[in-house]
Amino acid sequence: MCGIVGYVGPQPALEVVVNGLARLEYRGYDSAGVAVLGRGALHTDKRAGKLANLRRALEERPISGDGAGIGHTRWATHGAPNDVNAHPHVDNDNRVAIVHNGIIENFAALRLELEEQGCKFLSETDTEVASHLLSTTLASRGDGDLAGAMRDVCKRLEGAFTLVAVSTDDPDLVVAARRNSPLVVGRGEGENFLASDVAAFIAHTREAVELGQDQVVELRADSVVVTDYDGDPVEVNEYHVDWDASAAEKDGYDYFMLKEIVEQPRAVADTLLGRVTVDGQLTLDEMRLSPAELRGVEKIVIIACGTSYHAGLIAKYAVEHWCRIPCEVEVASEFRYRDPILDQQTLVIAISQSGESMDTLMAVRYAREQRAKVLAICNVNGSTIPRESDGVLYTHAGPEVGVAATKTFLTQLAACYLIGLYLAQVRGMKFGDEINAVIAQLATMPEQIEKVLDTVQPVRELAHSLADADTVLFLGRHVGYPVAMEGALKLKELAYMHAEAFAAGELKHGPIALIEEGLPVVVVVPSPKGRSVLHDKIVSNIQEVRARGARTIVIAEEGDESVRPYSDVLIEIPAVPTLLQPIVSTIPMQVFACELALAKGNDVDQPRNLAKSVTVE
Ligand code: G6P
Repeated sequence: MCGIVGYVGPQPALEVVVNGLARLEYRGYDSAGVAVLGRGALHTDKRAGKLANLRRALEERPISGDGAGIGHTRWATHGAPNDVNAHPHVDNDNRVAIVHNGIIENFAALRLELEEQGCKFLSETDTEVASHLLSTTLASRGDGDLAGAMRDVCKRLEGAFTLVAVSTDDPDLVVAARRNSPLVVGRGEGENFLASDVAAFIAHTREAVELGQDQVVELRADSVVVTDYDGDPVEVNEYHVDWDASAAEKDGYDYFMLKEIVEQPRAVADTLLGRVTVDGQLTLDEMRLSPAELRGVEKIVIIACGTSYHAGLIAKYAVEHWCRIPCEVEVASEFRYRDPILDQQTLVIAISQSGESMDTLMAVRYAREQRAKVLAICNVNGSTIPRESDGVLYTHAGPEVGVAATKTFLTQLAACYLIGLYLAQVRGMKFGDEINAVIAQLATMPEQIEKVLDTVQPVRELAHSLADADTVLFLGRHVGYPVAMEGALKLKELAYMHAEAFAAGELKHGPIALIEEGLPVVVVVPSPKGRSVLHDKIVSNIQEVRARGARTIVIAEEGDESVRPYSDVLIEIPAVPTLLQPIVSTIPMQVFACELALAKGNDVDQPRNLAKSVTVE
């Protein structure tokens, strides 16, 4: 949700900033803008639409500067996505420019106050109050201290914000402030960077500095000074970024999403790596929660949004089965509003690939206030949710740029399985050899994912043949139900189609009325092993919808001949243990949605109206 870049150093700031924005475009792509300082003046340009529009404008009407620069790619909250509402926003003297990620909740009152003082507002945004407020504060302080003025401004703002500002008074300085929204510093040699995400600067440096809550940073080419809102210096956490620049490139694929789907075997393998000791014990040291604390857990509550929520739904089956601990799963945005029952014996698991989803972060804070222990599953090192949790298990999917989650979802599943097994181990619910058997099965998953990827060509062809469908229904049972939900979500996100998932057993209680001639129905079939009752029931469901004219697209275990007669299209997946099946059954869903969206001419990396990480509630 909005990408921010800042740069100060010897390179041309405009180029560094625009290239950084290109790496952050997944965060928002309604509009983009830049500001650079040069010869005592502030030069800005901002355009509605994708970054390409801004690049074109800059080619036609170049701006240049020899000082610092800032840039922004927007996901609109207040005000339509047009040129005027795009960031940066400047004050009336064109002396201060500011970019913002988040929402300033008390902007209306501040706007009135500033208008009474004579400030002229040009846009409908909440952000513009920050540029005028920074300018008037700077003027009234009279000391030219941009960082001091920023601290004063932050104390008056309510809501969530990352603000980054430059001023003509000090052209080699960038000042930024952070509350709730992400911001990270990249430390270079004789140059420094600021961004919402390390992806913006890893082409230049992999040395990063984490900024904490309510902190202000002053960035010069040779120094990084971090203080709290009172101006007192604070300790910062420096870290090395493992990802290299090429991990954030397309590597010859037309879209990041296509590349990220193919990267799934590696992503899952890396997430499982190093979790078992030589004597076969599962070890999750980085989790920071002691075995004693985990033995005391009486209830688990999983909170997450979007695709991460579906990972949580699947985790419930594994956790309850292996650990015999009651487990609830809830969308994070609903969690704290229903007065949930939490105490010190509750373990809350927050799943968020970005670690920045505001709904999940607020739910984490609420859970900790209620004295529950919070464990995060996250893909972004040093992001806010793991920092504010009691413990964390990082997934190692590498950077995911495509807005619709793919590889991070499979790694979240792997992480959930690891946590479930670890809990079973420390609580003595399973013998070592039982745990080892599942671990060994998990270890074969990257190979099984490869197999699925090698055989998905018919799914691509199928997707192209369904590009004109209005609706697709998805059915599943047991862990196949959340997989069906994920399949439907992917289709909505990418192909902008009506898609709905049902627990197949619910079909007869209403949804079967939707079935009509030719309606595509995707069905995830559980393994037939051990003459599974669920398997047989879902085969009946397939027959029921087919008898009413549905076109059945069946995802079933290879060798399951019982479904063939009722499948208009049969997609075979490798035979794996039931609880682990989502790792393989999700992949045809991802490919199906991606290809269908491409057939419709949609941009699968940047679907309309969405953002990779939603940092507003
Ligand atoms: C946004 C994205 C979804 C994602 C969800 C949760 O809505 O568009 O793809 O699943 O956020 O993101 P998180 O980073 O918390 O996993």
